[in-house]
Amino acid sequence: RQSIGRITTGTDSLDSLLLGGIETQAITEVYGEFGCGKTQFCHALCVTVQKSLEEGGLAGGVLYIDTEGTFRPERIIEIAKVHNMDPSKALDNIIVARAYNSAHQVLILEEAGKIIREENIKLIVSDSTTGLFRAEYLGRGTLANRQQKLGRYIRLLARIAEMYNCAVVATNQVSTSPDTFFGDPTKPVGGNIVGHASTYRIYFRKGGKNKRVAKIIDSPHHPASEEVFELGAKGVQD
Ligand code: GTP
Ligand code: MG
Repeated sequence: RQSIGRITTGTDSLDSLLLGGIETQAITEVYGEFGCGKTQFCHALCVTVQKSLEEGGLAGGVLYIDTEGTFRPERIIEIAKVHNMDPSKALDNIIVARAYNSAHQVLILEEAGKIIREENIKLIVSDSTTGLFRAEYLGRGTLANRQQKLGRYIRLLARIAEMYNCAVVATNQVSTSPDTFFGDPTKPVGGNIVGHASTYRIYFRKGGKNKRVAKIIDSPHHPASEEVFELGAKGVQD
């Protein structure tokens, strides 16, 4: 078994919350309401994973599974510049796969092995993990079927993380209607299906203009602390 690697978030606050950064061989689920910074967090990690080990990265590439069309190359360029990295090299190391429906989203992952090996992928971003499933399986009658398909996708993510010693960041929205998940606006969509396979769960909430608060939920080895961070030129920053 290979040793676990860590990717810095590029911020002292979130690194301190995560005890150094996000781990390989694990799924880190980030959930919270719209605009709380999940996609910005993913963009920041797309850049930091490319740094050397000495600088807190894994000298690796990214497979970005984009289900909402919110990947922004210009954002990567901006973040790379703040890190004094070559922006076009940073972009070259990110493979973006746009998923158009939930079956396609699963298929991308099923077919990802070759590219993960050949491109030295060290970070897989799943943004969003649940959005397409939620949009396609509407109403209570379809919940069991949705959870089964979503479960398959999450287990595949977990297996890939282990097999290729990759970090996985899986974003998730919070539920807003009784049909999605219990209607609790502080609970992630997908409930335990996502939760059981996620190694770590981080909850982001808004705390003023660009201020955000991150909290680790139910981790056996992390203190139950909160950290404040900001959204800005670095994606996420102190
Ligand atoms: P959903 O995907 O809708 O659930 O939201 P999210 O959690 O992914 O939010 P996202 O990461 O897209 O954060 C959106 C917020 O980030 C915006 O409200 C802005 O405050 C900030 N933001 C987005 N793009 C930029 C940018 O290019 N520069 C800066 N400085 N801030 C940005
Ligand atoms: Mg987003």
